[in-house]
Amino acid sequence: MTKITINTAPIEGQKPGTSGLRKKCRVFMTEHYLENFVQAIFDGIGGVQGKTLIVGGDGRFYNDKATEIILRMAAANGAGRAIAGQNGLLSTPAASHLIRSMKTDGGIILSASHNPGGIDEDFGIKYNMSNGGPAPESVTDAIFDVTKSIQEYHIFEGGSVDLSVIGATALGDMQIDIVDPVTAYVDLMQSLFDFPAIGKMIAGGTAIRFDAMNAITGPYASAIIEDLLGAAKGSVVHGTPLPDFGGMHPDPNPTWAHELMDEMMGPNAPAFGCASDGDGDRNMIVGPNCYVSPSDSLAVIAANATVAPGYASGLKGVARSMPTSAALDRVAEALGIACYETPTGWKFFGNLMDDGRVSLCGEESFGTGSDHVREKDGVWAVLMWLNIMAVTGKSVPEIMQDHWAKFGRNYYSRHDFEAIESDKADAMITALRGALAGLKGQSFGAMTVETADDYSYLDPVDGSTSAHQGVRVVFEGGARFVVRLSGTGTSGATLRLYVEKLDLKDFDQDPQEALADVLKAAHTIIQIEGFSGRTAPDVIT
Ligand code: G1P
Ligand code: ZN
Repeated sequence: MTKITINTAPIEGQKPGTSGLRKKCRVFMTEHYLENFVQAIFDGIGGVQGKTLIVGGDGRFYNDKATEIILRMAAANGAGRAIAGQNGLLSTPAASHLIRSMKTDGGIILSASHNPGGIDEDFGIKYNMSNGGPAPESVTDAIFDVTKSIQEYHIFEGGSVDLSVIGATALGDMQIDIVDPVTAYVDLMQSLFDFPAIGKMIAGGTAIRFDAMNAITGPYASAIIEDLLGAAKGSVVHGTPLPDFGGMHPDPNPTWAHELMDEMMGPNAPAFGCASDGDGDRNMIVGPNCYVSPSDSLAVIAANATVAPGYASGLKGVARSMPTSAALDRVAEALGIACYETPTGWKFFGNLMDDGRVSLCGEESFGTGSDHVREKDGVWAVLMWLNIMAVTGKSVPEIMQDHWAKFGRNYYSRHDFEAIESDKADAMITALRGALAGLKGQSFGAMTVETADDYSYLDPVDGSTSAHQGVRVVFEGGARFVVRLSGTGTSGATLRLYVEKLDLKDFDQDPQEALADVLKAAHTIIQIEGFSGRTAPDVIT
């Protein structure tokens, strides 16, 4: 292969969002599109001369080609070594672990997470730093700046890199190591959790269903849950990663993981149900007839984490994204540890973990994780739940009832209104921001507004500020709603409305009923119908 320099020109709209650059696959496949962005990453991080990088992705359409292009560009840009998952596969948490454990300079992860895959669906790319976590805004801004002035990129042409064979090869002066995507991650999980105890519980008859949704976690879950922990073959369903996820929308929530939900709500439900998303960082936990909301899952994990060997010495502190429910705060208070609130997106947790302030963190969007990596981690959350069940001897419904009895129940729900025209969504948010100052003291039905603001975050570690991270309205008594626009979509705008209300006595209500008055007030204040014409959400979690 020969190293060449290709002339190019800036392409509009290459601004990374909540989690890297996400666009339709066909957009990424247009001439120079991926290459421009990859070169912008390299230039934006100060070049890759002599550096070591991890490369891999969730296996969606174009993952293999893009992995190869990145390797050819890394070599042409002078990188010293690249480590790629076999066939270009790496779950996001496994990539984060490799970046850290191999002491590399960073990594490129190819994924559009839980968005559908295929040539007509979504693709994505993001850069993670040497700590294994998503690049902070200062770095993504620098990358975006390069995309606006880029004139050329460097690449090896005239041959291909074989991603299928495990072992070391070279391209120019760059060493390439193709590694098994699963091995190192499995070792890490074994160092954190009590595999013998979980295996014993499974051998005792605890049936499991893990829905990998035809995405990246299939090989990880089969190796861990079936091969190592001894669950029956077939416990992992949809276990083969497919470029189009077999048409599934690999988002582990009750709407998209409906097959799992039907099973778990049915008469022959296994004791434990779970699912993960496209790139393996999200999770959903379900017991027989018992859906565990992600905010509750995070709180339960915080309250019980010390049963797992990796967390036996206690938690340093915990963190949650601002729209996530305050169930975690109540646990932190009881444990006497700090609870941090951050904007939406995993990147804000990294500084807190690197600074030794938090061990556990999570988001309402089916993301939970700890300082073992710098990404959220779906399989990790599943193993934590199994470890808790194995040590306490309790079922999922028993764990939930006990938790609420001790801490109260933060009824919680998120309503998503998808594909609203962007200008209408922007007008809605602008009007809401304008109305905030006058809301205090106003009543909406039985609800009276106590505070209303536009959330801004001051990072306690690096002193940076992130403004406009969501509008929040708190009512007297503590019920609240939060509203923000999604930063991960690829077309139009998605409005996310998060509602929450603490109940200390009655734990068996339907969340939508328990939250009806908050929802009503939120619709009136935001004027969702007036601005968008929408009366009902597309997805409720
Ligand atoms: C969504 C979630 C957010 C998560 C992100 C990446 O972002 O809401 O919590 O970190 O996906 O998985 P959003 O589309 O809301 O910007
Ligand atoms: Zn994901």
